[in-house]
Amino acid sequence: MYKVALLPGDGIGPEIIAEAVKILKAVGEKYNIDFQFEEGIVGGAAVDAYGTPLPDKVIELCKSSDGILFGAVGGPKWDALPKEKRPEQAILGLRKSLDLYANLRSVILFKALADASPIKREIIGDELDIMIVRELTGGLYFGKPRGIEKTADGVRGFDTMEYTDKEIKRVARIAFEAAQRRKKHLTSVDKANVLETSRLWRSIVTEMAKDYPDVTLSHMYVDNCSMQLILNPRQFDVILTENTFGDILSDEASVLTGSIGMLPSASLGDSKPYLYEPIHGSAPDIAGFGKANPVACILSAAMMLEYSFDKKEAAASVQNAVEKTLNEGYRTFDIQAGAKKVVSTSEMGDIIKGY
Ligand code: NAI
Ligand code: MG
Repeated sequence: MYKVALLPGDGIGPEIIAEAVKILKAVGEKYNIDFQFEEGIVGGAAVDAYGTPLPDKVIELCKSSDGILFGAVGGPKWDALPKEKRPEQAILGLRKSLDLYANLRSVILFKALADASPIKREIIGDELDIMIVRELTGGLYFGKPRGIEKTADGVRGFDTMEYTDKEIKRVARIAFEAAQRRKKHLTSVDKANVLETSRLWRSIVTEMAKDYPDVTLSHMYVDNCSMQLILNPRQFDVILTENTFGDILSDEASVLTGSIGMLPSASLGDSKPYLYEPIHGSAPDIAGFGKANPVACILSAAMMLEYSFDKKEAAASVQNAVEKTLNEGYRTFDIQAGAKKVVSTSEMGDIIKGY
């Protein structure tokens, strides 16, 4: 029996979580896996209900669970709140309090969507499979000091980019190991020509490469990487990078797959529970209309089956079902290419479940 914490959050969060649960239940029946689902309120919904985006009892629920499935948080309603009250603190706080320092973002282009990308087919090819390993609990997002303060002649805002050797080593290890399971090529992305943190990053990763002789390591500056992702994405297998760079590069990489609604992620640490979430946000512009693409959330659930429960066959069956659905021409409204039938969020879930 696996206890799964469901944290739908705001906007399209509840719509896509419902579809992922539908799929997990079906897979559970097929593969004899018992799930116990328990829901927690986070984000703007929790601000409204409890005055805080991440109530203590949600952290407790997560710590007592075997896996966490997170939707998305945030929206215009809460944008004016001070930082510590903002819905986004829910996901940042969870990553930090569970010490989930490695975010695996799986950039998969399904064959049926090869024409959905604005990037030319001869560049992306038929299929694409890149894994971005993004550091998740350090860098600019958490470095101190930070703030906005008055100066003699105006105002200044400041953040701190900071990494310790231990923080770099532990996330790099996960990236090297991911490369070992894949095509054995690791690209470490930094800005070592300018940033001290990047110089430390590069020297540690280079040193660690000796322990992984089967993995080919290359280094790339982040500005070049953002260009290479579009010019020649097929050169990449696993990309390792720090928090902010990884955030930006993975949104960019999502374009290769046809929609940001296609990209799942897993957040891992030294101990479970791990957290799974689509890389997109709460999409307030389409929330409530049944227009959201649930695939990123469904594939996040598949990653949970693999990484948290070691159910590789069940995880593969979800990925196959998504592939068949797309091959049949079913699409949510965010993807036009190859669409034979545009369906709603819940219809998409039903069709995937049917395979
Ligand atoms: P977003 O990812 O929510 O939306 C960007 C664009 O992609 C929108 O046009 C949206 O309609 C579309 N989109 C996103 N997911 C989709 C899906 N599954 N299917 C179809 N279309 C989809 O990013 P945005 O607009 O910058 O942020 C909206 C809110 O979400 C903000 O409050 C932001 O802070 C929050 N956010 C939360 C995250 C999280 O909970 N992990 C991550 C990123 C943003
Ligand atoms: Mg982002």
